[in-house]
Amino acid sequence: MGILSITNYNLRDKIALLRVDFNVPIINSVIKDSTRILRVIPTIRYLVESINAKVVILSHLGRPKKRDSSLSLRVVVDLLSKILNKEVNFVPDCIGKHVHNIVDGMTSGDVVLLENLRFYPEEEYNDITFAKQLASIGDLYVNDAFSCSHRAHSSIVRITEFLPSYAGLSMVDELMCLEKFFSFKLRPVAAIVGGSKISTKLKLLTKLAEKVDYLIVGGAIANNFLLFNEINIGKSLFQEGVNHLLNNILPEKIIMPTDIINSTGIVKKVHEIMDDDVILDIGPQTIKKIANIIAHCKTVLWNGPIGVFEDITFANGTIELMNIISNFTKTRNLISIIGGGDSLSAIKVAGLATKDFTYVSTAGGAFLSWLSGDEMPGISALENR
Ligand code: 3PG
Repeated sequence: MGILSITNYNLRDKIALLRVDFNVPIINSVIKDSTRILRVIPTIRYLVESINAKVVILSHLGRPKKRDSSLSLRVVVDLLSKILNKEVNFVPDCIGKHVHNIVDGMTSGDVVLLENLRFYPEEEYNDITFAKQLASIGDLYVNDAFSCSHRAHSSIVRITEFLPSYAGLSMVDELMCLEKFFSFKLRPVAAIVGGSKISTKLKLLTKLAEKVDYLIVGGAIANNFLLFNEINIGKSLFQEGVNHLLNNILPEKIIMPTDIINSTGIVKKVHEIMDDDVILDIGPQTIKKIANIIAHCKTVLWNGPIGVFEDITFANGTIELMNIISNFTKTRNLISIIGGGDSLSAIKVAGLATKDFTYVSTAGGAFLSWLSGDEMPGISALENR
């Protein structure tokens, strides 16, 4: 893996700058899913309990271009204090004198959370001065934000030039899991790829088709494949201008829906789709076909929704497949890896939890980048230290 885990660091009583991803879903100041917070708790505990560090947490929230009180990380502090069972101090800035004053007053084992890094546009420019200002706060840097490591930002990349840099425990876990899957040792391997924009996943689809035994497509991505195979998709969502590129994806590996649910909730075989139909989920025959494939697979990877699962009328495909995969994970030692922007909500809709699968990545874009073989600037930065 070429990166150093934080477990390699053994100086005590130092100030650890911990980059996490607290970019959590928030509605009316309420955190709707705390998985990303829970994931970094072992690293915070490790820093506090094993090396007696003073822990200074850095994160972004949303995509502000300047200070925006609706995207303050203050919203996270109570929950974080509750989970850690210790008071976490919130500092309403992430650089400058006030931050230094607070950090100077910390004692070993204290935890503070700094304000949203993206209140400074310099963060996204990978700005060297901003990175130096951040680095001046601590003695060492820990990146436990795999889900942000596809971004070449100051707190992810540039900061590693100024401090001894390590990977946090959840980062190490995530990389090990993904590498294990991508060794393709436990075959047959199936990948389920859904979502709405095929253009964002062409590279991934091409790569997976070469490596996996079955490439199951869903969502609007499947609509593009149906269209490519001259099947009428009516008024369903698809992306124009990519059909010629589907030629490059090995057709013998592709598993497409054979029946669908249209917008009125009716099951139709794909050759029965009419000009007015809108495909919103896979049908029972397709679910059965996929279940049979997964039944004899040893590894399955899932990225992207296969139906409009946010509406319960069109969530059946997602719910059934989630249940089949979690069941085989428990009863048949299936290695199941789920990731991508909507994974956590899809798991919730199915009434399941992350523990029901071998590994659930909380990463969206980063998961896609890693799987597509793109460079991950945050990982490279740790490797180069
Ligand atoms: C995510 O939610 O995928 C990460 O927090 C990265 O956020 P970004 O896409 O705004 O950089």
